[in-house]
Amino acid sequence: MVPKKESLDREFYFGEKADFYAKSKWMERNQIKSTARALALLEDSRMGGELSKSSEHLLVLDLGCGTGFSSHIIESAGFHMIGLDNSFDMLEKHIEKSAPNKRNLVCGMIEALPFRKNTFNVMISISAFNFILDKKLQIDKKRVLNEVANLIYEILEPNGRVVIEFYPKKVDIPLYMETLKQYFEGGLIIDNPNQRKEQKFLILRQKRPDKKIAKSKIF
Ligand SMILES: C[S@@+](CC[C@H](N)C(=O)[O-])C[C@H]1O[C@@H](n2cnc3c(N)ncnc32)[C@H](O)[C@@H]1O
Repeated sequence: MVPKKESLDREFYFGEKADFYAKSKWMERNQIKSTARALALLEDSRMGGELSKSSEHLLVLDLGCGTGFSSHIIESAGFHMIGLDNSFDMLEKHIEKSAPNKRNLVCGMIEALPFRKNTFNVMISISAFNFILDKKLQIDKKRVLNEVANLIYEILEPNGRVVIEFYPKKVDIPLYMETLKQYFEGGLIIDNPNQRKEQKFLILRQKRPDKKIAKSKIF
């Protein structure tokens, strides 16, 4: 049976559900709009304004790239893109829709990013990041977030930028902020607050030599 769009959760991205996702016009519109907003936030003045290099010189990691709605917008903006997702079924659909020279995809988890230090200039994640705390016990959430923040910090080049559009549980927001603040400057941007269309974006930048210094502008 085809799941309803309201039933989105981790299991939604495997088997025949991946096919349903890939064909969903509602999902496509949503992901394209969110990615366009993320790309605009990447160059927001609070992130330091315009990127110092032009997009064709920058490597972007699309965290939780799914069937490629977000990846294709990132690529059409001129960036080099590597997509990562933990569902091979979603990646198969991504491959079907991508040109042979644009299939830079990795099957892996955000919690165990398999990349070298200082690899990426930019990371973008659209509607995927909250899954790292999905079905986790409260006592494990802090450790998981800390490990992911540390991984992102390591594989991002100095002064690299990150934009994450996500759907955190309200109770988890302080934990996200508290943990990320130890590694990055930045903050949480809420579009259309308290409305049905509310969207949350984390904007993060600038690795610090001493992770313990916390003098951020937005957090
Ligand atoms: C709502 S979809 C968004 C996909 C993509 N942004 C797009 O434009 O289609 C969320 C994706 O996150 C992936 N995902 C969920 N948890 C993940 C994890 N822990 N590590 C990597 N990918 C994950 C799912 O498999 C799914 O493809």
